[in-house]
Amino acid sequence: MQAPSETGPGQLTYGSYLKVAELIGLQQTESQPPHHDEMLFIIIHQTYELWFKQLLHELDAVVHNLRQSAGTPSSRDYIYEAARLLRRCTEIARVLVEQFTILETMLPTHFLAFRGGLRPASGFQSEQFREIEFLCGLKDEKMLRYHEPTPEMYAQLERRLREPSLRDVIFDALSELGIMPALAENAGDEQRFDARAQAILAIYRDEKSHRDWIDVCERLTEFDELIVSWRLRHIQMVERTIGIKMGTGGSSGSSYLKMTLDKKFFPELWAARSLLTETP
Ligand code: HEM
Repeated sequence: MQAPSETGPGQLTYGSYLKVAELIGLQQTESQPPHHDEMLFIIIHQTYELWFKQLLHELDAVVHNLRQSAGTPSSRDYIYEAARLLRRCTEIARVLVEQFTILETMLPTHFLAFRGGLRPASGFQSEQFREIEFLCGLKDEKMLRYHEPTPEMYAQLERRLREPSLRDVIFDALSELGIMPALAENAGDEQRFDARAQAILAIYRDEKSHRDWIDVCERLTEFDELIVSWRLRHIQMVERTIGIKMGTGGSSGSSYLKMTLDKKFFPELWAARSLLTETP
């Protein structure tokens, strides 16, 4: 058996590299005396936030690669890399959907024992969740107001609001490839949407020439699907835990959340599916 390598003061260790001491010191309960389940409640949210951080990291890299792909002979390498990173995003999203079952081991009565002390904090204030939405293309300026108590986060979201989204970058890259139908200068939102859906249609109709882009589009579609699954599982968990009570953020609770189920990051990818026709 190999002897463990020597460690001494100042050397990198598992704990110093991963900042474990800091990490496990970040769970501070509000309930007095501390309710047993509040620890789980905090850790599950913190875990989600860590994965949201990783998702933003990957999605930013996807945007970068798709931007680089435009007008370069090595365009395929960039598109390949975007698809590879998107695969990671879908795997993370799958974990995010699954994780709610852990929180569902908390009895509704146990949550109610410390819920009161959490008001007015709410998932509405998950800046990273909103950032993922904005970065993917689902931008809603009205959501900024929930971040007024945290100016740094407000500024970060405002930046995302201004920047081109992943959805925009996809169609800019397809324009460069000459796949987007020409648009009149005064084209409205509806015409722009139709042109984008037509571009996706063209890709799927010519599979041999666009395998790389089809791979990207399929992964984006899967990511969209998984985020809807996340929304649905969150609603089921909410109803199981607090029924149809109002949210701590002031919304109507599950009935508000149900209205978000139709939201899609990449609606043109879905529209193109309706446009496809049967082949002999
Ligand atoms: C017992 C557990 C939970 C309950 C009862 C709950 C309840 C709610 C409710 C009622 C809302 C609507 C906003 C409001 O009025 O507050 C909401 C929004 C939200 N929650 Fe939760 N939640 C729980 C756990 C989680 C977890 C673990 C996450 C993980 C990050 C999460 C993330 C979010 C997000 C991102 C929103 C905003 C959704 C949107 O606007 O589309 N929630 N939650």
